[in-house]
Amino acid sequence: MSNLESHYRPSSLSDKVALSFTKFLRFIADTFFKKRYGHRAVVLETVAAVPGMVAGMLIHLKSLRKMEDDKGWIKILLDEAENERMHLMTFIHIAKPTFIERIVIMIAQFIFIITYAIIYLISQRTAHRIVGYFEEEAVRSYTEYLHELETGKIKDQPAPEVAINYWNLPLHATLKDVVKVIRDDEAGHRDVNHSFADVIDERKTKEKVNTTKKEITTKENLKGNYE
Ligand SMILES: [Fe+2]
Ligand SMILES: [Fe+2]
Repeated sequence: MSNLESHYRPSSLSDKVALSFTKFLRFIADTFFKKRYGHRAVVLETVAAVPGMVAGMLIHLKSLRKMEDDKGWIKILLDEAENERMHLMTFIHIAKPTFIERIVIMIAQFIFIITYAIIYLISQRTAHRIVGYFEEEAVRSYTEYLHELETGKIKDQPAPEVAINYWNLPLHATLKDVVKVIRDDEAGHRDVNHSFADVIDERKTKEKVNTTKKEITTKENLKGNYE
């Protein structure tokens, strides 16, 4: 399996919940958009740009509240949100959203901001795992989109100027080149979010080990006092 198609195998209940949630949303997206990849990208990128901003804001507030360093996470997450927004800015030149899609976008944004913030506050780890799985699906969808472009089922076209400037593409770049660089971005977000979930796991395991060590030391000290 190439790095592009890598999949994180769910290892805990939280991972399984994250994967099932992603598969459910994928099913809805497949039913709604079918093979209209341009429109699919427009609507989904409006949602994709939400988690980074919500997570970045919540970590920012936590850092202020607890007076703790963020270990560079805020910048990474805000960059992710910005990058996803640029995917949207690119795709609106490829497919103009219909009136119904604009309504769906508004409802989806409202529901998703609240849902993601709640998930993040309950389980930061699950929230990052969900984005990791979302991005796995995004890579798959862009691979399918690329396949349609390469086989001529969807007509290729010149890359929008905004994309040429943002990704520093050659002036003769086409939509195929744009889909490739966007797919690479999605693979990057996938790896970052899965690794954030892993880091949170490691921190929790370390905390547990330290607590157990402290308990053992306290017990031994108490034993020593009575001997
Ligand atoms: Fe994206
Ligand atoms: Fe993404």
